[in-house]
Amino acid sequence: MGIGDLTEFRLAGKTLYSLGLIKGTEGNLSTFDGRVLHITRAGACLFELTTDDVVEGTLDEPPPNASSDLRIHLRLYGEPDARAVVHAHPGGSVPEGWMEGQPHGIYVHGGSLEEAVGAAIRSTRTVHAVAFEGDVVRILDQTRLPNEEHYIECRTVDEVAAAIRRLAVRGAPVLGIAAAYAMVLAARGSAAPDRGGVLLDLDAAGRSLVDTRPTAVNIRWAVDRVRARATDAEGAEGVAEAVLGEARIIEREDAQACSTMGRIGRKLIPDGANVLTHCNTGMLCTAGIGTALGVIYSAHLAGKRVHVWVDETRPVWQGARLTTWELERLAVPHTLIADAAAGSLMAAGQVDLIIVGADRIAANGDVANKIGTYPLAVLARHHGIPFYVAAPTSTVDPATLSGASIVVEERDPAEVTRPLGLAVAPGGTPAANPSFDVTPADLVTAIVTERGIVHPPYDVGLREVAGERGTA
Ligand code: MRU
Repeated sequence: MGIGDLTEFRLAGKTLYSLGLIKGTEGNLSTFDGRVLHITRAGACLFELTTDDVVEGTLDEPPPNASSDLRIHLRLYGEPDARAVVHAHPGGSVPEGWMEGQPHGIYVHGGSLEEAVGAAIRSTRTVHAVAFEGDVVRILDQTRLPNEEHYIECRTVDEVAAAIRRLAVRGAPVLGIAAAYAMVLAARGSAAPDRGGVLLDLDAAGRSLVDTRPTAVNIRWAVDRVRARATDAEGAEGVAEAVLGEARIIEREDAQACSTMGRIGRKLIPDGANVLTHCNTGMLCTAGIGTALGVIYSAHLAGKRVHVWVDETRPVWQGARLTTWELERLAVPHTLIADAAAGSLMAAGQVDLIIVGADRIAANGDVANKIGTYPLAVLARHHGIPFYVAAPTSTVDPATLSGASIVVEERDPAEVTRPLGLAVAPGGTPAANPSFDVTPADLVTAIVTERGIVHPPYDVGLREVAGERGTA
């Protein structure tokens, strides 16, 4: 096998090992290019593979010293898109008293080893911020993290809207997914006697969802998308089915967009980089590995030694509570800092680049994101540090020409005076709580999307990836 292929096997093995998904001689790997099968030999240590450890054959004539799980690998290559198989042993996946030949651990296939490793990690560690199950939208209540993993079940649009408003679910892409599933509840729960009436109820539900968080454009984008699909449906039941179908597609596409952004964006992260990020942009706010955090995670998976400075992100502490929680689960080295520490770290040469997510990107490249993002961009410019934004094209809003017309959500001042319920200011202190700020396009070095990295001039590049101006 070529040295490139061995490198791919080694990287996959080391990644599984560093994440605790294998130890000793556990696990095995294979690839199949449509003709040649490469598979780890029986007894190989995946985290220190040598050339002799990966053996070659075909599906009809497999190598004699292949892993004892050979038969399972061969079976998985019956799947149409399988080009790689990963077998790992996450904690608890090997039954007590297990004997050779019995099912154990996980077997995951993918289009490449890297993809299969990603899927293996997701299957064991993915956080499901939102899921549509039976008749409920199930939401991981992020206000209780990191102390408690508590799920709430929403059965009506109003319940989903309330969960969005109080930040039980948050982050632009997953807000779109939650809104899309809330539209299913609206369609199913409609008392209207006919299709026309259900569509009117959907419109009302859509408006109430869009109002919950006015800056995150993904809500409007998702509502419009499921509503458009409903237009073509037949009968009241057909409407609900169509909305559910589209919502599922939105969720799947978001997961895929995250993986693609990760693969594309990690080129921007040098080996050994100290990366600063703000707010939370990971699995908790997408259906996949995340946007900015997904890029960082992807660089980590590719073997780059990355260290993350995590801004605490006041006043709601998405960085301190959520990003650290995610990075810890993914074994990415990180350090939490007070938001105010970012500038001096940059001055001390301890930040190589900044990468953040977005709640809305205007047609000219102005970026609305969590309050505190804009000062980071200004500091980055002053210190000559690249400032990147990672967001799916569903966050690009061609109908918003510039940041000047982005509505910035104003939240309850109590989030500032009583963060996490603790009074930090005298009672009655006047406080302002703008939830987002707008970073002008000229401070943004590049925007990572699932359709490529966009460089200035953004009006041209964003039009290419996200299309023309729509309706506001
Ligand atoms: O108020 P939040 O927590 O919803 O704000 C979230 C952010 O600002 C994120 O950076 C943005 O939504 C991108 S999420 C991938």
